[in-house]
Amino acid sequence: MRAPNIDLKQKTILVTGAAGFIGSNLVKKLLQEVPGVTVVGFDSVNDYYDVSLKEYRLGELEKIASKHPDCKWIFVKGNLADKAAITSLFETYHFSVVVNLAAQAGVRYSIDHPDVYIEANLIGFYNILEACRNYPVEHLVYASSSSVYGSNKKVPYSVEDKVDNPVSLYAATKKSNELLAHAYSKLYNIPSTGLRFFTVYGPAGRPDMAYFGFTNKLRKGETIKIFNFGNCKRDFTYVDDIVEGVYRVMQAAPEKVMGEDGLPLPPYKVYNIGNSSPENLLDFVDTLQKELVRAGVLPKDYDFEAHKQLVPMQPGDVPVTFADTSALEEDFGFRPHTPLAVGLRHFAEWYKEFYKV
Ligand SMILES: NC(=O)c1ccc[n+]([C@@H]2O[C@H](COP(=O)([O-])OP(=O)(O)OC[C@H]3O[C@@H](n4cnc5c(N)ncnc54)[C@H](O)[C@@H]3O)[C@@H](O)[C@H]2O)c1
Repeated sequence: MRAPNIDLKQKTILVTGAAGFIGSNLVKKLLQEVPGVTVVGFDSVNDYYDVSLKEYRLGELEKIASKHPDCKWIFVKGNLADKAAITSLFETYHFSVVVNLAAQAGVRYSIDHPDVYIEANLIGFYNILEACRNYPVEHLVYASSSSVYGSNKKVPYSVEDKVDNPVSLYAATKKSNELLAHAYSKLYNIPSTGLRFFTVYGPAGRPDMAYFGFTNKLRKGETIKIFNFGNCKRDFTYVDDIVEGVYRVMQAAPEKVMGEDGLPLPPYKVYNIGNSSPENLLDFVDTLQKELVRAGVLPKDYDFEAHKQLVPMQPGDVPVTFADTSALEEDFGFRPHTPLAVGLRHFAEWYKEFYKV
């Protein structure tokens, strides 16, 4: 186990992507659990998906912040790629810990919209690294992705595996983030930890992801497309597990150690955070259906078979994702554990309430 070396109490923390799915859940946990914390959220609130969801998440954060008067919640709207805005943010707040979750997500979207990936994930991340260099932080934590494993044949995917065969631009930007962070950790002794998340789901999640998109379509009586004829396996990870992992990692920055050459060794780590229990896509859809019926989002007599179409694989997709979480377990005594049915139940219940089904 790695002992925590950062006490978050009273600290000022930057969470980029705070209006996003994972970011908003992280901010919520910080406000609820860290006495006296100041959390600065940064997000462009872009319209990649329904902006009202992002506004809803920000609204929920306002409510939580009002119940924790010892904490401060500050939201700044801006673009990561705007260097002057990032510099001014760091100059104003002098963050102790930075969690970079803002990014253009999604594998398929990167095929037709490469520009936004370069802007947010490369230029944006570079701006964060530069700011961490000029306004030193105790720890930079950033989101990577299971997609860096590309079509890795070996499962489960381990952080020890060689990952230099990305099959989408999205994956290439995430792998580039890890490389850039390594260089900055080495050159400027910036403690950094990259986290490869595996298919995250949960309430108020992302509508571009399968479970959410399927639900929207089934509700409208449309047909859902199940890729690779259902022969896909995904390590679906519940958002609370991801947030717990990020929270633990934030408090343990990689140690600064001198190498034999008298220069610092890079204080640099990468971990997988995934459920380590891949589900077949058809079983996943089956569980989702049951939970949607149970929550009353869909009627008991819904004809699911009439609304399913098995189709070939899409470019950029991979047949399986499966996280080896042994490094996370060894260092933090934690691994995601929420069963799919439990997580999807929370999603279905939230969906019913949010869309007033
Ligand atoms: N959800 C998953 O399954 C998953 C899996 C692997 C990795 N990730 C990574 O985790 C992070 C969070 O993902 P999420 O699911 O919460 O996505 P999300 O899209 O809900 O959140 C990302 C947020 O970043 C903001 N953003 C995008 N470009 C920006 C820019 N240039 N400047 C400022 N803000 C910008 C968006 O407005 C959005 O609110 C991302 O880095 C994503 O790549 C997510």
